[in-house]
Amino acid sequence: MFKKWKEKWKVSWLQFVLIICTFACGGSLCGFVGRKLLSFTSLEKGLIYFIVYIITMSILWPFCVLLISIPLGQFTFFRNYLQRMANRMTRKVNTTRRIAIFASGAGSNAAKIIEHLQKNQHIQVSLIVCNKPEAGVLNIAKANNIETLLIEKEIFFRGDAYVNTLKAKHIDFIVLAGFLWKVPAALIQAYPNKIINIHPALLPKYGGKGMYGNFVHEAVVASGDIESGITIHYVNENFDEGKHIFQVSCAVSKDDTPDMVAAKIHQLEHQHFPKVIEEVVLATE
Ligand code: GAR
Repeated sequence: MFKKWKEKWKVSWLQFVLIICTFACGGSLCGFVGRKLLSFTSLEKGLIYFIVYIITMSILWPFCVLLISIPLGQFTFFRNYLQRMANRMTRKVNTTRRIAIFASGAGSNAAKIIEHLQKNQHIQVSLIVCNKPEAGVLNIAKANNIETLLIEKEIFFRGDAYVNTLKAKHIDFIVLAGFLWKVPAALIQAYPNKIINIHPALLPKYGGKGMYGNFVHEAVVASGDIESGITIHYVNENFDEGKHIFQVSCAVSKDDTPDMVAAKIHQLEHQHFPKVIEEVVLATE
């Protein structure tokens, strides 16, 4: 459990311990101050006292934790932590994040993402963007009543990269799920840190131009690597070079064919990609 939190917060073990100490000391200080404040009132211990105590604690807690975080050197972490908490609580509770999935292929990932996000009322897959009229993902969009946008190379690379169209459709976030064109600068600038991609290998290995789908698995098998995996990352202007968000590996045995590796990778993608998207989208302003 601790390891999970440490990874979630992206901190060292030392910082993790200091954060836990801050939580503990901040909580105790909050309890102490809360009780002291209530002692100045004439409230008898009972339901009303309890309710007022809870409200007082909720108001005091962020201040106490921030105060304790200063001597423990964790002020920046807690400032960001409280900011994220506040954003989550005040986040336009009624606002739905609208995401567009860009895909060029069969769309098995798109299908899993749609299925998973149907359970989240704050995120909606609003658009499927595709560059191939015969791509299977278009049928998935149709089956799920999701609007589609078939894009043209000329507009994508030399026009406005469909920024105006996406903005007009109120798209907040873009997910590349088997989309093979390079994303132009205009789109990246219009959606800073709001475009993520999945790559079917453990980047930085087996990435770059021409490395997609089965070419990746063939390269893994040809190299005799004993593992492969998936990388979910932000998209920048270079193929597969954006900041990593998530990686998970799987074993590759010497008898595995590229198709067998592909099956293992798809399983990992389907298991993790929808959940990672959900987390990243909700954590994005
Ligand atoms: C996925 O394995 C994805 O990682 C890969 O294309 C496949 C699409 O499958 N993407 C890349 O290779 C990008 N470089 P799907 O259409 O069944 O979701």
